[in-house]
Amino acid sequence: MNRPYKNMNKANSVVRFEGVSRWYGDPNDEDRLVRALDKISFEIESGEFVAITGPSGSGKSTLLHLIGLLDRQSEGKIFIGGVEANSLSDIQLAALRNQKIGLVFQQFNLLRRTPAIRNVELPLIYAGISRQKRYEMAIKALTDVGLENRLNNKPSQLSGGQQQRVAIARALVTNPALLLADEPTGNLDSKSGASILELFDQLHKSGVTIVMVSHDRDIAAHANRQIVIRDGRIE
Ligand SMILES: Nc1ncnc2c1ncn2[C@@H]1O[C@H](COP(=O)(O)OP(=O)(O)OP(=O)(O)O)[C@@H](O)[C@H]1O
Ligand SMILES: [Mg+2]
Repeated sequence: MNRPYKNMNKANSVVRFEGVSRWYGDPNDEDRLVRALDKISFEIESGEFVAITGPSGSGKSTLLHLIGLLDRQSEGKIFIGGVEANSLSDIQLAALRNQKIGLVFQQFNLLRRTPAIRNVELPLIYAGISRQKRYEMAIKALTDVGLENRLNNKPSQLSGGQQQRVAIARALVTNPALLLADEPTGNLDSKSGASILELFDQLHKSGVTIVMVSHDRDIAAHANRQIVIRDGRIE
């Protein structure tokens, strides 16, 4: 009776880490090995808003990259939506990322000379969605972040806060199970930053699962739960 329940738990959590480490360098050269993450275990359930916080160099971005399937662990097991990431090829991993995960970065990472709506349509092209459907979905996503009047503006014609909204629309347009953000307000003035956090609050209330990295404890306090990392370990 115990096992099926345990497996069900695994399937229910959006993210599950079991003793995950990420080392940089030669594992045979102990002196120069950087243990960016050291045997980390945690779970994130659907609908949570979690902040990963801790000092510079503690391993926050490394952890977010592993959750976002942008990198592979050195040891341990990572489950995303119940699927064990290490059992997948790079191509399968990219498909799972496209399907399940939306990513937002400090630097926005938009195509600067491409209209907002085309930036938001990109993940839908990879997902093989038809042109008309793509257009409708991108308009909805941009409307959801308050940019319905800026569809054809290029990122270079938008403020930093507006560019981050385009990036959030692009992350959400595929309706992912998980929204990941690495210092999403790091490049914004405090007013634009506050409005992005307000948008995250709204998204969380509408049921989006969010994991946000911030070294700033006040920003991290917006989340419902904080995972504090220090020297590659959960505090
Ligand atoms: N590609 C790499 N090669 C070698 N070491 C790395 C690499 N990437 C990160 N590190 C090291 O791993 C540790 C964790 O880095 P990470 O970028 O995860 O920190 P962080 O908590 O995101 O810091 P910050 O708040 O400054 O962004 C650091 O000691 C860093 O120098
Ligand atoms: Mg970082």
